[in-house]
Amino acid sequence: MTADANTFDSIGLASIGLSLPPLALPVEELAKLRGQDPKKYTLGLGCQEMSLCPADFGAVEMAVEAARRALGRWDGELDRIGMIVVGTESAIDMSRPLSAWVADELGLRGAVRSYEVKHACYGGTVALRQALEWKLSGAAGDKAALVIATDVALYALSDPGEPTQGAGAVAMIVDQPHIAAIDPISHPWSEPAFDFWRPVGESFPRVDGKFSLDCYKTAAENCFKAFVGDDNAERKLSELAAICFHVPFPKMVKKAFLHVGESFGWDFELANEIFSQKIDPNMGWNRQCGNAYTASLWMSVAEALAGLEGGQQIVAFSYGSGFGAELLTLTAGPEAAAGTWAADIESDLDSRTHIDAAGYEELRNVRLAASA
Ligand code: HMG
Repeated sequence: MTADANTFDSIGLASIGLSLPPLALPVEELAKLRGQDPKKYTLGLGCQEMSLCPADFGAVEMAVEAARRALGRWDGELDRIGMIVVGTESAIDMSRPLSAWVADELGLRGAVRSYEVKHACYGGTVALRQALEWKLSGAAGDKAALVIATDVALYALSDPGEPTQGAGAVAMIVDQPHIAAIDPISHPWSEPAFDFWRPVGESFPRVDGKFSLDCYKTAAENCFKAFVGDDNAERKLSELAAICFHVPFPKMVKKAFLHVGESFGWDFELANEIFSQKIDPNMGWNRQCGNAYTASLWMSVAEALAGLEGGQQIVAFSYGSGFGAELLTLTAGPEAAAGTWAADIESDLDSRTHIDAAGYEELRNVRLAASA
């Protein structure tokens, strides 16, 4: 491909790979430990299960597996990857980028730009945008980018965020849009805030939970308003095949969309109907996985794209605490319908082990001891 060919419709997702860790905890088991009504977690937050990593497993292992799967179903060779960028908030070093560990495992070296991006859950989206813009600029020439969003989301024991924990990785090859073209025009919104942050040296995030919900809603309102512009909001959103959100927990997404609807002057019934048709069906994998921070939105996008006909459009709303957000538009390509990457999630869900409350306590103790 030449630089001239790097125009809208010619760049996007050429391949997708996903990876989940080998353990899972039903949220009802956590409710037993914390003395909570399980319905608070299942109905109040909309959570079902959280993915968990054993002590010797984490963001790097998931990133490598997701990348191998994406590369395995891509029609290009490894030497065409000219950029590897990892969006994560599970960094394991203050200097060495997580991409270096992943590139090492993949045997990727040489004329390759390799780096890590941090912006809470928005980091994976920033990485993807940079890869897209690198391709659109012509600087990439014939090379493709390997973008990976990978995270392990753990809160302190008994933190209100504990039922929303999770882990997972999504790898995306940015090249020809076999799966989806990404519109170069997107709608960012940011406001400096302390809603969720993790000071250097601390193992778990500090969270102003209620404030974080307001920040998320403010970001969603502004991004969707920018997307709709002067058009009719109901028509513009109803025309989409799917609307995907960052999923810290499924109820957050519903709250945010009802807020977006309210800002358009809709009644509850209309917002709820669009939510049920266009949004809720894309959170099935998130419900099995929990919050995988940078990977959460892209897991939902991967689920939404699987089975779409070429030309169908979706939007993806990315949110990261701190806070930064962006709304992207994607148009399904010819390989979306086959949805081959769904096999990654199906096989990981089939093979993972469910642990109970006692197993979870033991796991957390081992991880806490390892990080002390
Ligand atoms: P909490 O304060 O313990 O929960 O934790 P609550 O008291 O607000 O209850 C939650 C819901 O359960 C409520 O529903 C209750 O009514 C309901 P609502 O009124 O809100 O609709 N409830 C019940 N329902 C049925 N049966 C029952 C029952 N009891 C209660 N028996 C909180 C909630 C979200 C604060 C907590 O989980 C938390 O701190 N989470 C982490 C922060 C978070 O996820 N924020 C989301 C936006 S920020 C974001 O998305 C970024 C993030 O991903 C990080 C990043 O960017 O890196 C987090």
